[in-house]
Amino acid sequence: MKITKICCIGAGYVGGPTMAVIAQKCPNIQVTVVDLNEQRIKDWNDPNTENIPIYEPGLAEIVAEARGRNLFFSTEVEKAIDEAQVIFISVNTPTKTYGKGKGMAADLKYIELCARQIAKVAKQNKIVVEKSTLPVRTAEAIKSILDNTGNGVQFQILSNPEFLAEGTAVTDLLNPDRILIGGDTTPEGEEAISALVDVYANWVSRDKILTTNVWSSELSKLTANAFLAQRISSINAMSELCEKTGADVNEVAKAIGMDSRIGPKFLKASVGFGGSCFQKDILNLVYIAKSYGLNEVADYWEQVIIMNDHQKRRFSNKIVQTLYNTVADKKITFLGWAFKKDTNDTRESAAIYVADDLINEQAKISVYDPKVSRNKMLSDLDYLETRTVEENSNALSIFDNAYEACKGAHAIAILTEWDEFTGYDWKKIYDLMHKPAFLFDGRNILNAKELESIGFIYNGIGS
Ligand code: UDX
Ligand code: ADP
Repeated sequence: MKITKICCIGAGYVGGPTMAVIAQKCPNIQVTVVDLNEQRIKDWNDPNTENIPIYEPGLAEIVAEARGRNLFFSTEVEKAIDEAQVIFISVNTPTKTYGKGKGMAADLKYIELCARQIAKVAKQNKIVVEKSTLPVRTAEAIKSILDNTGNGVQFQILSNPEFLAEGTAVTDLLNPDRILIGGDTTPEGEEAISALVDVYANWVSRDKILTTNVWSSELSKLTANAFLAQRISSINAMSELCEKTGADVNEVAKAIGMDSRIGPKFLKASVGFGGSCFQKDILNLVYIAKSYGLNEVADYWEQVIIMNDHQKRRFSNKIVQTLYNTVADKKITFLGWAFKKDTNDTRESAAIYVADDLINEQAKISVYDPKVSRNKMLSDLDYLETRTVEENSNALSIFDNAYEACKGAHAIAILTEWDEFTGYDWKKIYDLMHKPAFLFDGRNILNAKELESIGFIYNGIGS
């Protein structure tokens, strides 16, 4: 079976970049990305590709190359489903905010809606690919909906989890460590797997394309994210111990990272991990473990989240304590709001929770982030429902210039590791601030000695 038409439901952080790269690398495949959100599709179709809704280094160029050739963005969901042989499901699967599993389980309502829509529209056999991260055995649910509500056509469900990290999405997609494809071990399942393998083989070497059964593929994605998040919580736990003992967490990370069994990556102590995946996937894992009665397994992984929450709270507490136990009416400037550098995504960003804590202490927060919009920051705070929209907008001032944001500040907190922050004229910033001038480096990106010689009172993580 040769694939010539692909549809992707969901034009978000996963669907958008993934399909753009497939389209670029497979000029003979027509790729249509659909979304219910009209504005989002309009933005993807903006004649100036610098205005596409997702910021990722290198993405605008790829969209410019493929869009209109074999890459299309559309709101005509049914038409695209009808025409495609392969349908990727890349819709959001947030943590449930209601009912059973509230705050833990993944909310699969968007997935189910997609499955029902595919079943309704499909008049020929289709391959349905789960791209969003899903609880183990979701494929089974999708299959049941498709088989019971469809028009009698055959569906093959594949799990093809996305491992891209935001900020490096394009390079991760172009040079993946591996591509994972899970499917049924029947002849039809194997045919579907091999058709998808052929798509990726256009640019990924076949030895990096791993095929497994569906459940292994689904669980591998949750496991990968759980292990990555666990490394961060582990080094963050050590950062607190370092602060008490006089050790330096950067030195500890370097020393252990040189052990080839441990490796150097993902050992950067920080104000806490954010992003749409880690917390959600671990909560999901915990929920699944509990639902099988595996309480020790559930507790083990839940500790990764507990440690992360503690790290964020510890950062805001440290700011309050250091500023003589009161931040009321003091101006605290945040440099960065995104959950990591090189993205405009703010989902679960530590900045949101630290700001919320400090506003509870009646601080005035000023923020500068090179890519995050004002509305996004305000809606992030509003989403927590800690206080009214008006109170939030009174407490948060947003600047499009870092020096302006720092003027008259009592303290600066680095929340995102944007490269530009290291190149600032820190003497100039010092001169603009109230004295003593405090600096809380939640990403350990600045040179402590240099800043101290300027006059800052510098606080990093884990030293
Ligand atoms: C993650 C996984 O890396 C990716 O494979 C998966 O597909 C989706 O989830 P993402 O959330 O985009 O990707 O970014 P990632 O680079 O993993 O960072 C997540 C968070 O951890 C960020 O807030 C980052 O700042 C933080 N982090 C990362 C640290 O605090 N220390 C580190 O050493 C690494
Ligand atoms: P992710 O990080 O997983 O890509 P996003 O929230 O960025 O998540 O993107 C998911 C997209 O899926 C959103 O743009 C949303 O509008 C879209 N979506 C959700 N449900 C449907 C649906 N049934 N049909 C089409 N698009 C959908």
